[in-house]
This record gives sequence, C-alpha cells and structure tokens, in this order.
Amino acid sequence: MSLTMNSKGVARRSDFVAISAAMIVPTRLCGISLYVCDQEDGQYRLFRAPNVPITLEWVERLEQGRHRKLFVSTHEHQEFQRYLQENIKEMVADESIPTTQRFALLNEVVRGVLGKELNSSDLDASIAKTEEMGHHVVELVCRSNVISSELCKLLYHDFHTFTHVANVSYYCVMLAKECGITAPDELRKVAVGAMLHDLGKSEISGAILTKPGKLTDHEFRIIKTHPTIGFLRLSKRTDLSFGQLMMVYQHHEHLDGTGYPVQVSGSEIHPWARICAVADVFEALTSNRPYRAGMNKDDAFRIMDRQMGTFFDVEVYEQWKTLMQKH
Ligand SMILES: [Fe+2]
Repeated sequence: MSLTMNSKGVARRSDFVAISAAMIVPTRLCGISLYVCDQEDGQYRLFRAPNVPITLEWVERLEQGRHRKLFVSTHEHQEFQRYLQENIKEMVADESIPTTQRFALLNEVVRGVLGKELNSSDLDASIAKTEEMGHHVVELVCRSNVISSELCKLLYHDFHTFTHVANVSYYCVMLAKECGITAPDELRKVAVGAMLHDLGKSEISGAILTKPGKLTDHEFRIIKTHPTIGFLRLSKRTDLSFGQLMMVYQHHEHLDGTGYPVQVSGSEIHPWARICAVADVFEALTSNRPYRAGMNKDDAFRIMDRQMGTFFDVEVYEQWKTLMQKH
C-alpha cells in the first residue's frame, strides 16, 4: 500500500476516509489497515495492521476509548466498501448492534452502492442493486424504536447526487409510512423509486449541477430536463411500477401547477411523487452545497412554508413536519 506523503513524510488528510468503529464486525474485517488521527499533531498513525485479527473485545475497547473514529486509506476504501456490502444483510438483522449504528452502516453501504451504480451504463444490474438496498432500508427504517429526526443526524449532508438520493430514499420511506403506506412491498418500491428519482441528472454536466449562485435561463432549462431523461430511461422497464416511474417524472411538479416538466397539478400528481417532492426539497435545503452550508430544519421549514406553501400536498407536508419535530 502506498500513500502520498508530503515533503515531511506525513500522509495527507485526503489520503484517508473516516469510518466509525461501529462499522467493524469482529472476525470479518481483515486485510485492511486501520489508522487513527492524533488529535495533537493531526497525523495519521497505523492502529491495526492488516494481518492482525480483530476481536469483539478489541472493538469494545475501541468504542469506549478516545479513538472512536478510525480511518482507512482512500486506496483501501473500495476494499472496505466490499467488506461492508458482503456483510450488510447480517449486520442489518443483528439485534445486538444498536439500530442507529446499523443505520449508519447501511447508510455507508447505500451511498457506496449508489455512488457507483448511478453512473453505470448497466441499468439492469444497477436496478437489481438498488432493489437490494431498498429492501435493507425498509427493514431498518421501519423498526419502531427509531426516531426519524435521530436518523437524520446520522446522515451525511454533502452535495453529491448519490448522498442526496440515499437521504431522500430514507425520508420517503419514513414519510410514506406516516401517510399510511405500510405494506413492506410498497415501501420497498417507494425506497427504490426515491433512489432513482434523479437518475436523469447523470446526463447533466456537473458544472451546472454544482454551480454556485444563480443559474442562467439556459442552464435552468437543462436542469429541468432531468425528470424526463430519467423517466425515458426507465419507462420501458417491466420491473418498475407506475408509482415509481411517477416519482422520477413528477417529483418537481407542484400542486398549484407551477412545477415542471409538464405543469400538471393537484390529483394529476401521483401520491408517491408528492411524498418525493417534500423529501427532495427538505433534503436539498438541509444539505451542504459547495457554496453554502446546509440549513437547520427550522430554517428549511420556514422557507418551505413561506416560499413553497402552494407547491406541496398539505397533508404530506404537515406529516413530514410532525415527523421531524418528534423527539
Ligand atoms: Fe430532481
């Protein structure tokens, strides 16, 4: 393994990816070096060599100690992702791991999978993987002892499209449940529809998607094509339901008919698309952008109340507010 060293022989911050000690399942992780970051001098030091077995006792000691955060090298991060993906089914079902920790693990896996799959040209494989993730999301989000606003705190809030769709997916499942959709099969479809809702963005230039400041009319016209692009890519598939396709096609439509791409209104908008619309805007406002920090949820609700009051299905929006304000 080689890390890029600076002139003083110290590895750089960009050479490492932080992971939580909770992500380590004893006896399964091997072949990967684990590092800690020294708080005093900010240097990364080898904590566990790849050939040293990991025991439950060791993980417990780590969680109680001062090094709760571990690092893997960016070089080995893919290997770490593979380890998580191979073990996620078991970890999600493991009652001995607190639900919030299982959620953090799942979130890591979902982001990893979506980051890879959303840019893949093999749509069949991507959708199969997305469905597998949807299954885990519903399994975990539906556990009654988890508070939605607590789960939000565990999420990453960066500006990557895969982070956005992963978060929107958790939000949609929570919200759909609250709106009375309780059958696991339906919820799994909602989760997958949400993961696919911005698929069309993969064909739009990153320079436009992350542009700081106001978009030109031309750029905004390009952005507005993404629901149609995503819908056209998926519409011939027989493994997606009408509701899922509408999440992709209608998530930017507004109840008052001012949205896009078609400007349909009211009941012409599918209920799942209305759920996706609320989750989508809330996620976008509360996540960091390259040019601004994410808002707290009260500020996000203030903007959604004042500037978007007629955009959303009132009942769906009120359910979301109630859910997020529960402690
Ligand atoms: Fe979108």
